[in-house]
Amino acid sequence: MSAAPQKTFYLETFGCQMNVHDSERLAGILEGDGLVAAEGVEDADVVVLNTCCIRENADNKLYGHLGHLKAVKDRRPDLQIAVGGCLAQKDRDIIQQRAPWVDAVWGTHNVGRAGDLLATAGATGSPVLEILDATLDDDEAFPSALPVRRDQAWTAWVTIQIGCDNNCAFCIVPSVRGPEISRPFGQIVREVEDLAAAGTVEVTLLGQNVNSYGRDLTTRLRGEVDWHHHAEVTGAAWATAERPRARPLFADLLRDVARIDGIRRVRYTSPHPKDLRPETIEVMATESAVCPHLHLPLQAGSDRILALMHRGYTAARYLEKLAAARAAVADLAVTSDIIVGFPGETESDFERTLEVVAEAGYDSAYTFIYSPRPGTEAAGRTDEMIPAQVAAERFERLRIVVERSALARHQARLGRTEEILVEGPSKRDAGVVSGRTAQGKLVHFPAAGMLPAGTWADVRITRAAPHFLAGELLAVTCRPSHRTRIPVVAG
Ligand code: SAH
Ligand code: SF4
Ligand code: F3S
Repeated sequence: MSAAPQKTFYLETFGCQMNVHDSERLAGILEGDGLVAAEGVEDADVVVLNTCCIRENADNKLYGHLGHLKAVKDRRPDLQIAVGGCLAQKDRDIIQQRAPWVDAVWGTHNVGRAGDLLATAGATGSPVLEILDATLDDDEAFPSALPVRRDQAWTAWVTIQIGCDNNCAFCIVPSVRGPEISRPFGQIVREVEDLAAAGTVEVTLLGQNVNSYGRDLTTRLRGEVDWHHHAEVTGAAWATAERPRARPLFADLLRDVARIDGIRRVRYTSPHPKDLRPETIEVMATESAVCPHLHLPLQAGSDRILALMHRGYTAARYLEKLAAARAAVADLAVTSDIIVGFPGETESDFERTLEVVAEAGYDSAYTFIYSPRPGTEAAGRTDEMIPAQVAAERFERLRIVVERSALARHQARLGRTEEILVEGPSKRDAGVVSGRTAQGKLVHFPAAGMLPAGTWADVRITRAAPHFLAGELLAVTCRPSHRTRIPVVAG
């Protein structure tokens, strides 16, 4: 007698690295429940959409996808459809009102319940919805407490903080991700040690505002808990004579993670410019494993707009911090996020953005047209909205300035030998391999025998474009460790 075929799932992720990492956890939960990954929607018994709502087109995309999935479910009524993530947290019961064929909806605070909710929907035949307004238990707050299915063994996302305590006038994240909670120092270090032991060589520390990491650890623990316990949960490592502080700084964490045996590249995102401290720059300058890449979102160049956005810095202060970072960290790549068309942005405000962007000399920048998000302060400024055509024209002008600077930065690398960590075959050409430099730059190069992900190679740069570099392979310097495996790790 042959065994029943295993149930399959297909998971689609929208949004930022936090969601990508939550999806790894969702996949881990579903695999723990005995499901296996499917190639696509057509082969899946369960389809999970892990959603984003940072801009309006993210909303539209979800409802478009759900329309398509309805047709699949009409053909295969046993198909289960689930929606999780930030848009689910925002829209709650609206999702099942607009798409009653959705079986399960969960939010950002209860990713760990995904398997149970799908099982309940399956057993009862009725749709389920579970959204929490806050994380119930700190220990379950971090995706790292859940099982994980990572796509690659050699690189890993590591959550150091969830939520955000800022109030940028345009941004919906604090309302969908909740207040800022720092993950205990010791837990982070232990996770990275375990990853390194399993063959991971690169980690990216994740938080909405990593530079404020640890700010809440003292207030949450001091007074209520004895110091022995404090040291245990926050990690005794930071509380040394060298660092006589009541709480760890992001810089302490960055340094300790960078010193873990086997970890060769440490990245982090995103740092808020107002909270970027000299200690962090110093660690970037002195720890060789910390990548020379700073993603420092500017958002706007006009001080008037920055104040309306509640960003907490002026353009001059931003440029000062950037200059300090460039002076200290050798060969630093700098990237940014910029919004055009914030309500009330005048032509001269926008020109100031162009000036600051040109002065910053970015290696690349994500540029966005402002999108009003329900409940945010800026969305209330309805009489100052910028016409779509004006915003589109500014967006195009900004793109040209960003690309000019990116191309110049990339051209400066022609002829250099770069150390590449291979990510896999290029999406466009199977004979070409893609990987990244320490600065985070994408490099394509022909490789006759395909080099597997996780290989280290020296590549000479022969071509520069605004969004990538191309080169020729000089030498393979390190094969992926034989210990490297793609682990399913129980939390
Ligand atoms: N926490 C990160 C940003 C996360 S959101 C930080 O502060 O750096 C990523 C980017 O999306 C933001 O930096 C911003 O440039 C953009 N963004 C956020 N809300 C937006 C909105 N309403 N319209 C357009 N772009 C937005
Ligand atoms: Fe949003 Fe600002 Fe928080 Fe970033 S720092 S997540 S832009 S509120
Ligand atoms: Fe989107 Fe949520 Fe990230 S709104 S950008 S997936 S925190």
